[in-house]
Amino acid sequence: MLIAQLSDIHLDGVTSLQRLDRVLQWVAELKPDAVAVSGDLANNDHAASYAVLKTRLGAFGAPLLVVPGNVDSREAMREVFGGPGEGPLNGVVQVGDVRLIGLDVIVPGAAHGDAAPVLGWLEAEINSGGAPALIFLHQHPFDCGMDQYETIDCRNKEGLAAVIEQAKDTVLGISCGHLHRTMFTRFAGVPATLAPAIAPMGGLAAEGRKMPATDPPALLVHHLKGKNLVTHVISIGG
Ligand SMILES: [Fe+2]
Repeated sequence: MLIAQLSDIHLDGVTSLQRLDRVLQWVAELKPDAVAVSGDLANNDHAASYAVLKTRLGAFGAPLLVVPGNVDSREAMREVFGGPGEGPLNGVVQVGDVRLIGLDVIVPGAAHGDAAPVLGWLEAEINSGGAPALIFLHQHPFDCGMDQYETIDCRNKEGLAAVIEQAKDTVLGISCGHLHRTMFTRFAGVPATLAPAIAPMGGLAAEGRKMPATDPPALLVHHLKGKNLVTHVISIGG
């Protein structure tokens, strides 16, 4: 089972679409079993941009899970991609023996996110007796160590951690986007990844050192064999 995760596409014109299309060319050859998009799909012209994305991502014929990011419009996403009639755009896609859970933690108008409003929903979903799950959300629920980004994280991460911890074996991993910088850590006892961006990447800034970004657009491919999860980083250079 191969799940392609795209993040932070930030569609805003021709250049961004060209970057995306280079990545999608690779994804098309992969023939993923599912595609997950972890937010910040489009900067503006939301409904029209989502329609463009839906056509391109739909061409793979694979199940699609989309969660909003801070630059997205929930309403336009609901209109184009469907989902619950009101409130957060949480979603679940079952692919074989795995559940992809999309958690909408955005706070409209803010750069940070907040898990509190969707914890009840997540707890019910995780404990519904379904298949092992991978959770996707936009803002990082862990301390990323980069000072200027700690304030735009997903708030109420303790509550989120508690829900995941009590469900132990059911949650295989959690993956977000938002910071345009690939990261690997652990959260609530499970592997946690921050997916690279399709849009320009950000540099490393930690421990008082600041490095410029040199990374090309990239994506994650989550490889699941039973409950064994291996995550690949695929950079699309050239
Ligand atoms: Fe973001």
